Amino acid sequence: MNLLAIETSCDETAAAVIRDGELLCNIVASQEVHLQYGGVVPELASRAHMAKMVPIVHKALETSGLSLQDIDVVAATYGPGLIGSLLVGLTFAKGLALSLKCPFLGINHLEGHLFSAMLEHPTLEMPFLCLIVSGGHTILAEVRGVGDYVILGQTRDDAAGEAFDKVAKILELPYPGGPAIDKLARQGNPEAVAFPVARIKDNPLDFSFSGLKTAVLYHYQALSEEQREKNRADIAASFQKAVVQALISNIKKAINRTGIRRVVVAGGVARNSALAAAMADLAAEENLEYYIPAAQFCTDNAAMIAKAAELRYHAGYRSSLALSAAPNLPLTS
Ligand code: KG4
Ligand code: ZN
Repeated sequence: MNLLAIETSCDETAAAVIRDGELLCNIVASQEVHLQYGGVVPELASRAHMAKMVPIVHKALETSGLSLQDIDVVAATYGPGLIGSLLVGLTFAKGLALSLKCPFLGINHLEGHLFSAMLEHPTLEMPFLCLIVSGGHTILAEVRGVGDYVILGQTRDDAAGEAFDKVAKILELPYPGGPAIDKLARQGNPEAVAFPVARIKDNPLDFSFSGLKTAVLYHYQALSEEQREKNRADIAASFQKAVVQALISNIKKAINRTGIRRVVVAGGVARNSALAAAMADLAAEENLEYYIPAAQFCTDNAAMIAKAAELRYHAGYRSSLALSAAPNLPLTS
């Protein structure tokens, strides 16, 4: 069974083909148009998706050695994300499924992140705990089965990736900020500044990063131009340490609460080197089975959508061609 998946929820135009668990291609076209604005401009994202959609699907088929007629199932992300961006991929996929007279599956983008580790570890067993840390989301979930998720904690304000991007802007680093902070932090001292790690009383498994971001802002504003140059790497490393500490300590609490000792860390921020190191330490300390997907499966991609669609297909799910884009789609819907 050849399953074509399309992902256009934000600023990546992506297509992937999976055949019985084997990924045949994973094509991602990132949109450079947003770089000059220091963030994603929704209208420009939709337009770029329009321009890239057909060439990306052609490239996916060509790379897989397939023609359109070989496709047995079409899947696409239908939420959450930017409405205009979602509509391009979703409408294209529905039209394609209609013309090929094949089944169609709408996939929750977050569900794609949940199952992204299964691309490289197909035998990964449920239940597992999954921390999704991306530019738009910070969710700690218990994955019990396909379509059966319990949210244990989530952010009350900024997502972890958003905090990285905003702090990078404060520190006058290039966009996207996550990779820039990760790189600079390697030259800095993470103990240099004691930034606060928020604790949330009514749900200790929730996260909050806006206070941390403001603390970095005030700290940086109080420095002279010369001190800023000198201390930038230390501030980046100290900020990164605070984020990693918040993430790791909540994973630890989730393990204690659920008794589940299998952990996946997914999403763009899972590429962070300090987080990977801290996760390895935690796994050794607590004797955990843990997975961090390869970089290409952490940031937005269609391979993870293909994987989630394949799991859903085999679980008997099908979507109607009347399915609408859902910009605010929650993980548990
Ligand atoms: O999953 P993703 O591609 O898109 C969303 O669904 O949001 O995640 C993008 C986010 C951005 O905020 C980016 O700064 C962050 O992931 N990111 C990182 C790193 N690489 C990407 N954050 C920290 N360290 C990194 N190495
Ligand atoms: Zn994502």
